[in-house]
Amino acid sequence: MDRKPEPELMDDEAQALAYAQADFSEAHDRFVALFTECFPGEPGSGVCLDLGCGPADVLVRFARAHPACRLDGVDGAPAMLALAECAVGAAHLQDRVRLIHGYLPGAELPGRDYDAVISNSLLHHLAVPAVLWETAKRYGRPGAALFVMDLLRPDTPARLDELVRRHAADAPSVLQRDFRNSLLAAYRPDEVKAQLEHAGLGSCRVSVISDRHWIAFGRL
Ligand SMILES: C[S@@+](CC[C@H](N)C(=O)[O-])C[C@H]1O[C@@H](n2cnc3c(N)ncnc32)[C@H](O)[C@@H]1O
Repeated sequence: MDRKPEPELMDDEAQALAYAQADFSEAHDRFVALFTECFPGEPGSGVCLDLGCGPADVLVRFARAHPACRLDGVDGAPAMLALAECAVGAAHLQDRVRLIHGYLPGAELPGRDYDAVISNSLLHHLAVPAVLWETAKRYGRPGAALFVMDLLRPDTPARLDELVRRHAADAPSVLQRDFRNSLLAAYRPDEVKAQLEHAGLGSCRVSVISDRHWIAFGRL
């Protein structure tokens, strides 16, 4: 199926709240576990940057799994960042997690030379996908870990319907709609590989890890 872009920022309060309240524990725990498989022992006591951190669920899980690291999360949607502040506060992680309001590209981030750059489900929102890879290259130190997970666009409308039924049947309608739109806006692994090559990150690998997700990982 052809890709159908969706809006970049998730700044509608009801949309952001429905997203923050959804149970993404399986996918987000998998994100953290796969990072560790790809980069054992990292980022240690280093600093990690999360691009498009949304309500900070991945950020909080990552911070708990890596108690020595510090993290910066950036997002362009104030509605999401308000929810992220609550999540970071509830997890008592304010001393290690910094949240930054910023639109990519263009946001000036406080750090440079991050030891790891991570991102979950940002790429399919971006009007220009190179923004993710260029931002990672700009802010990660040479050799830093890059780990990105996102959705996989289905081949056919029937497959799209099947995935929405399988994974969002009981979800509120706003979330079902967003999931369907996100699947339609998502990239396929060959498209991601081409983006990485174009960004000079051709040594990064892309791997399908579930019926609806791929990961891309490698060194900056
Ligand atoms: C689907 S959510 C993913 C949030 C989080 N990473 C997670 O996995 O739960 C995508 C997030 O990217 C943010 N976003 C989209 N385009 C952006 C841009 N150009 N600059 C900054 N943030 C952006 C949205 O506001 C939204 O919070």
